[in-house]
Amino acid sequence: MNINEIFANLDYGPAPEARDMANGWLDEHGRKFGHFIDGRFTSHKKGFASINPATEEELAQISNGTKGDVDKAVKAARAALPMWQALSGFERAKYLYAIARQLQKHSRLFAVLESMDNGKVIRESRDSDIPLSIRHFYHHAGWAMHIDKRFTGYVPYGVCGQIIPWNFPLLMLSWKIAPALAAGNTLVLKPAEFTPLTALLFAQICSEIGLPGGVVNIVTGEGETGAAIVEHPDVDKIAFTGSTEVGKIIRKATAGTGKGLSLELGGKSPYIVFENADIDSAVEGLVDAIWFNQGEVCCAGSRLLVQESIETVFIEKLRARMDRLRVGDPLDKSMDMGALVAPVQVQKIKKMLEQGKKEGCTVYEAKGDVPANGSFLRPTLITDVSPANSLVCEEIFGPVLVSLSFRNPDEAVALANNTRYGLAASIWSENINLALDIAPRIKSGIVWINCTNQMDASAGFGGYRESGFGREGGAEGMVSYLKRDWEKKLKPCQAEPVRKVDGVKTSSTIDRTAKNYIGGKQARGDSGYSRQVVGADGALLGTVVDGNRKDIRNAVEAARKGFSWGSKSAHLRAQILYYLGENLDYRRKEFADRLRQMNGLAEEEAKNEVDLSIRRLFAFAGWADKYDGAVHNVPIRAVSVAMIEPIGVIGIVAPDNFALLASVSMLAPAIAMGNSIVLVPSQLSPLAMTDFYQVMETSDVPDGVINIITGKSHDLARTLAEHDGVDALWFVGELTGSSMVEKLSTGNLKQVWSSLGKDLDWTDGEKFDGDYFLQKATQVKNVWIPYGA
Ligand code: NAI
Ligand code: MG
Repeated sequence: MNINEIFANLDYGPAPEARDMANGWLDEHGRKFGHFIDGRFTSHKKGFASINPATEEELAQISNGTKGDVDKAVKAARAALPMWQALSGFERAKYLYAIARQLQKHSRLFAVLESMDNGKVIRESRDSDIPLSIRHFYHHAGWAMHIDKRFTGYVPYGVCGQIIPWNFPLLMLSWKIAPALAAGNTLVLKPAEFTPLTALLFAQICSEIGLPGGVVNIVTGEGETGAAIVEHPDVDKIAFTGSTEVGKIIRKATAGTGKGLSLELGGKSPYIVFENADIDSAVEGLVDAIWFNQGEVCCAGSRLLVQESIETVFIEKLRARMDRLRVGDPLDKSMDMGALVAPVQVQKIKKMLEQGKKEGCTVYEAKGDVPANGSFLRPTLITDVSPANSLVCEEIFGPVLVSLSFRNPDEAVALANNTRYGLAASIWSENINLALDIAPRIKSGIVWINCTNQMDASAGFGGYRESGFGREGGAEGMVSYLKRDWEKKLKPCQAEPVRKVDGVKTSSTIDRTAKNYIGGKQARGDSGYSRQVVGADGALLGTVVDGNRKDIRNAVEAARKGFSWGSKSAHLRAQILYYLGENLDYRRKEFADRLRQMNGLAEEEAKNEVDLSIRRLFAFAGWADKYDGAVHNVPIRAVSVAMIEPIGVIGIVAPDNFALLASVSMLAPAIAMGNSIVLVPSQLSPLAMTDFYQVMETSDVPDGVINIITGKSHDLARTLAEHDGVDALWFVGELTGSSMVEKLSTGNLKQVWSSLGKDLDWTDGEKFDGDYFLQKATQVKNVWIPYGA
């Protein structure tokens, strides 16, 4: 045989990783597990089997957590809370460090067990899942040390309920548990039913390092067990990773409860290859983007967008590469792809592919062998698709790539954003200027330039739009496990008394009907009806538009157009906010008189409210160019830039009281960060904000940035909550209203902040001149840019 023949015939030999250690551990437990509650394993009760999807063998019997089990776990977590919070940051750091060390010592056992339970290849569990999990605990040991200084004025939520999926069992557990513990919370975590084993091994480690009982509780079970955690009244915060469908159920279930919520959901992330990309690197990157972890990755680069000029050659190289991918025994060290998590997942994907074929797509399956038994699928490529095809729109969560082409950068951006999701995106181009121009235009929480699937504990991970809200990792992630201390102390507010017109009293300054304000113009209401505005003394002060659904829709449309404001310089936004402040200052007396008439305020009180409103405009003018991002210290040769971006269109529903100050306190941070808004001012006393139109008109506020609709707060809030063109909603009012808007927000999973019927003191500059609303007005995008020649 000559050397060419040897190369041509070279093949892989088997390279199995030993499984005896993992089998030994399972046997030690009699292959039957209970829950881990209050530092102890409970005895096994009826449940389900955890299966190895590659061999279809049963690995162990798992208990199905009941409401009672969840209740016991929550009680244990509650009881442990005072002790855990009384520890110094240093003490908590030592526990986190001990967990990291112990994971490191047992890393081979964890890796093998993970591959057996999930089907992922050992190369990935060994080199990716487990090291990243360990890194997460190290990183957060550091947060435990420094949290007091970095997050002054914050307190932990309390008891956290955490529900995780099956695609990265130990890693998702680590992403949830490490920050929760660092922040001083205790928790109840439910692993996914397909993959509970590493969570149970983790529980054992907690007990080995002497973590006090009740701090970490693991309850195994199916969806119903998850629901019991979500619905438990004594849980303060829910953190969920999984399907968008279940995310929406959880959003509804927690509405109006005041529970904190972070959701990390699905995606359909674009993988954009420009003609000037390094094509071979981009092909190799794509293998990692879509065939890493069998494609069961929420941020998988599952939508290839390739520039038309290189499409043919790119697809050819890609197919050649696909044909060489090795699919088989997950414990074989030289396999590229293992088994999918379960037979149902395989069935689900096959069904989706059938549907795709019916819609006219071409399905290409890689040529390599796959085992006859077990949950295996071939790497698959879908071509001849259009943007409306189901395979292009829906998350497949398997080894299936769809490919579309584009002609120019604008079209690439339009296609990339043509999805309800917004988790991640990859951009491949050797022209760094082009790549950096595209990155801010993609609506996603993560952008990888000339790389893909990069993650690190120091850089926030999480999505835009229906990919969820909240971040995991870094300072961005810590915020998800902390609350302002004053938020815990708020008292319920009193409803404003209903006002009746007193026929005898008429105001000397009765106005014409104040209109709405849409797209920079005063606009008549759609219905033609108006509402009377009655002063505190019963005098009729004027009338305003009784806004309806159509008015809100028009305002949202104008706000969407006005959103280009977000790409204007922060300096310009600051100038306009200063200008608003200056112009309000010119008319201080007029506004103070208005507040006195409407709310019966004393002269000093009214003046004070106007002065504070001016001050607030100045405060956020000041913030506009200072609330900025960061460069994270990630462990590869790359900069990871955490960019602060506006959310988009924010609906704001102001309370009855503080007719001027409350509206200004919310509109100022929203527009300072580049959002455009639809504001519903005080239902009872709207005239201060309709007077504000003239202040806006003299302050060069661009059209569509601030839109104002008067009317019944609840009705208008309902329309804003249901509108998919609204990206976030802030609602101040009673609990029933908060509950309603949170429930109705699931259409596009808009981010809702509501006052939950609590009394807010808007005069308090400590609370409202700071970054409280800035955080809610922004989302972090992490852009990874590797370097090196
Ligand atoms: P899932 O969202 O149902 O499961 C995730 C977790 O939520 C599991 O622990 C499950 O037990 C729990 N759960 C289910 N119903 C619940 C409820 N009503 N209340 C509280 N917790 C509940 O995901 P599933 O069914 O395993 O997979 C279905 C599809 O979801 C996949 O094909 C994929 O498209 C997507 N998915 C996305 C993930 C992501 O990371 N983005 C992860 C897992 C699945
Ligand atoms: Mg399993």
